[in-house]
Amino acid sequence: MRVVTTVADLRKAINQAREEGKKIGFVPTMGALHNGHIQLVKRCVAENEFAVVSVFVNPTQFNDKNDLLKYPRTLEADCKLLEEAGCNLVFAPTVDEVYPEEDTRLFDFGQLDKVMEGEFRPGHFNGVAQVVSKLFDMVTPDNAYFGEKDFQQLAIIRQMVKQLNSPVEIHPCPIVREESGLAMSSRNTRLTPEQLAEAPKIYQTLLASKAMKETKSVSEVKAWVINELNKNEFFRVEYFDIVDGLTLQSLNNWSESGYAVGCIAVFCGEVRLIDNIIYG
Ligand code: PAJ
Repeated sequence: MRVVTTVADLRKAINQAREEGKKIGFVPTMGALHNGHIQLVKRCVAENEFAVVSVFVNPTQFNDKNDLLKYPRTLEADCKLLEEAGCNLVFAPTVDEVYPEEDTRLFDFGQLDKVMEGEFRPGHFNGVAQVVSKLFDMVTPDNAYFGEKDFQQLAIIRQMVKQLNSPVEIHPCPIVREESGLAMSSRNTRLTPEQLAEAPKIYQTLLASKAMKETKSVSEVKAWVINELNKNEFFRVEYFDIVDGLTLQSLNNWSESGYAVGCIAVFCGEVRLIDNIIYG
């Protein structure tokens, strides 16, 4: 496995792989890797002859400067995990390398980036689109892998690829969870032992709500989830919405969509956790 930090070295390695007729797979990450990321990488390795992973904490997608500063940076440990997973090339650039000048591009994703994460993290998805479009231009992958953990991000990347006529094929990957049910996240390391013991209740509550689909309305299920979590002193729900999985628009009735998804953001102490469940 090679680690490169410049676009020039990245392009050389990619060109060589292409000359050898290899299919290129790509997993963009911000590092602090855990098993959720590694499952994406393993799938990328299995489905492509040349697997590229980027490790880059993208400043333009952080609307909270403190969050950017606190983001864990663990490149050495990340590289060890990536090597074990069979990755061929790691791209770990500096901010100046990715942004030699300010990126002023504004994307328009219609309603997709106005709701949920987009509402509470203004500018976040524009920053994600800026960096992912740049990375796609640099890596020129055939296939790229994204986790369903960031459900809205996946919808937006799909839309971006369409808007840019990008030839990259987007592959969604299921959420990887701890045995407790807690969705794996680099933010979990910031939870205290007490918070870590409570946090699995987020997924347990979502699971219980899935069983209510046959007997309760969308608004009843929404109210139940929010109340169930908010009555626990460890949690403060920022939003919970049940939306169509493609348009991300709120549902009024279960019959409006065959692909209903419940998306949640919850503060557990200071730590903001997201999760989702597919009702079908
Ligand atoms: P990051 O949070 O590092 O996540 C990288 C990829 O791993 C994303 O596609 C995310 O959905 C996936 N992932 C994280 N936790 C997961 C889990 N528990 N199960 C399944 N997949 C999981 O998402 C980003 O970085 C950035 O926004 C990025 C796309 C790299 C752009 O900067």
